[in-house]
Amino acid sequence: MTYRRILPISVIFLLNVYARPVLSRTLYNNNNNLIEKRDISELELPACQIYCEGPLLHTVQMAHLFKDSKTFVDMKLKYSPEETNLKFTEFMTSKNNTPTEDDIREFVNNHFDDLGKEFVPWLPADWKEHPAFLDSIYDPDLKQWASDLNGIWKDLGRKMIDDVFKNPEYYSIIPVEHPVIVPGGRFIEFYYWDSYWIIRGLLYSEMYSTARGMLENFLSIVKRFGFIPNGGRIYYATRSQPPLLTAMIKSYVDFTQDEKFALDALEILEHEFEYWMNNHTVQAKGHDMATYGGSSKGPRPESYREDVITSNSFVTNEEKENHYSELKAAAESGMDFSSRWFINENGTTQGNLTDLKTRSIVPVELNAILYWNAKIIAEFHLRNNNVSKMTEYMNKAEKILEAIQDVHWNEEVGAWLDYDLINNKQRDYFVPTNLAPLWTKAFDIKDSEKISKAVLQYIENNRLDNYPGGVPNTLYHTGEQWDFPNVWPPMQYILIEGLKNLDTPEAKNLSTSWAERWVKSNFEAYRETRNMFEKYDAEHFGGHGGGGEYEVQKGFGWSNGVILELLAKHGRQLSVSTDGAVQMNVMNIVGVTAITLIATILARLMW
Ligand SMILES: *[C@@H]1O[C@H](CO)[C@@H](O)[C@H](O)[C@H]1NC(C)=O
Ligand SMILES: *[C@@H]1O[C@H](CO)[C@@H](O)[C@H](O)[C@H]1NC(C)=O
Repeated sequence: MTYRRILPISVIFLLNVYARPVLSRTLYNNNNNLIEKRDISELELPACQIYCEGPLLHTVQMAHLFKDSKTFVDMKLKYSPEETNLKFTEFMTSKNNTPTEDDIREFVNNHFDDLGKEFVPWLPADWKEHPAFLDSIYDPDLKQWASDLNGIWKDLGRKMIDDVFKNPEYYSIIPVEHPVIVPGGRFIEFYYWDSYWIIRGLLYSEMYSTARGMLENFLSIVKRFGFIPNGGRIYYATRSQPPLLTAMIKSYVDFTQDEKFALDALEILEHEFEYWMNNHTVQAKGHDMATYGGSSKGPRPESYREDVITSNSFVTNEEKENHYSELKAAAESGMDFSSRWFINENGTTQGNLTDLKTRSIVPVELNAILYWNAKIIAEFHLRNNNVSKMTEYMNKAEKILEAIQDVHWNEEVGAWLDYDLINNKQRDYFVPTNLAPLWTKAFDIKDSEKISKAVLQYIENNRLDNYPGGVPNTLYHTGEQWDFPNVWPPMQYILIEGLKNLDTPEAKNLSTSWAERWVKSNFEAYRETRNMFEKYDAEHFGGHGGGGEYEVQKGFGWSNGVILELLAKHGRQLSVSTDGAVQMNVMNIVGVTAITLIATILARLMW
């Protein structure tokens, strides 16, 4: 791994001290040795004084100049952050602190460039016209679709321009050395958990060096921040997302056999794991368990106005700050927003954003993913012949597994349930993540038969197999985008892979059936619109999702990744071409008629 490019940047950050109470981080020297641990507040990113908080951000975002609040925080500075702030102070004084919307628009036009300046389109050098898995797809329409999706990687590639590395304080982007594949739509930078499904898709597309470059970016980011931010912008750097880096590296190693890459990364993977275990844990029923959090003050910069508006239901500053923290914690989960994170006075999910209590809910998938991380880290240590380290991580995994079993599993319900720390009880509401331990194998395979029975009953009780467009994210319609009727690609993937891991015939059949339904429904949407969507609609075969804070996004990284993998795995026995089906039926009818006829004639003759 090379960090040559990254190190000068951290030196620049070191020189630009800007105090803000945030997280701690670990610094390494040229030889990759730990040199010190300290607070990020001591070496804050200078552009943060524009993009993360402060009067300028407040004034511009509250003026509602752009339809999407994210637009402003992605615009490039024309002057240094200090100069921009000085000019802003002068501007406010000249307008008696009451600028009109047009004044503010003019200020923004004079001091900011358009968004997207930090990137140039990039054609991945390892892109292949015809990756081998295409040959395993039987149906010509599906094969063509897979080939189209493979082609979309070329549209989603982004490379940063040199100026970003020379003058990082002019941008909100977090500089990373290697080009990335972005989700698409308004998401023009990397996103942490999206990248798990993007990287798996890239691996099926045989784009190994693109995948590796993204992983190297993430490793360098853990070194700089101590964890991986939600996305590749400094305004995301006070919260993370479901920690899937270790699983991404495992995927990369499984595809490439590049074991050395994993072993070199091991120390950083441990570091990220310990960050979650030390800084995101609470006590639940006597166990250390991870929750989503985030530690900055104020509204989310990229949804500033929206957050200020919901916070208006609260009176005191403390209540408002609490609300902002709950919003950020929900954003850290990746499921922003969802009734899953609501706890109302009665302890149920009925409510709205003012009922967000994300930090008081122990989420199933987060703990299941951390279990997975510990297991993979143990496996890498074993490959490195370090038995004592392997044992240490196996023990950590074991402890998490016990906690998951004790806090989340509910045999009667037939699922793992989130845990409510306010009312000290499990939350019996359907979310696909209730089955996430199946995906990360955070269950005892010896109990597979029993769990399979219970889980299939759970699926039947909640009628999850009844939706033509996939399994909805919750059964509750709130208008939030992670609620009914929206269906999310990573969640379908978790369910499909999880059921398969149960390894009973019934669970495997359902897994196959859901995989095929998902492929067919996405294909129908693609056939009609030529688009891949960020989310889909449970109630309509081929329908796409809506609701939430922004318009439906197209592209779309994780959707493409999930479909490519499912086509690679199921493409042999899948067909969508109705022509083919009709022909087969005609053949059958002809065949049956012919046999009947012959039989009749024979019978007559014999008679
Ligand atoms: C993590 O927790 C440790 C110990 O409680 C603390 O010293 C450190 O500042 C925290 N780190 C981050 C990144 O929040
Ligand atoms: C295992 O790793 C630890 C920590 O890196 C190290 O101190 C120890 O020497 C290693 N043991 C072996 C057998 O390599």
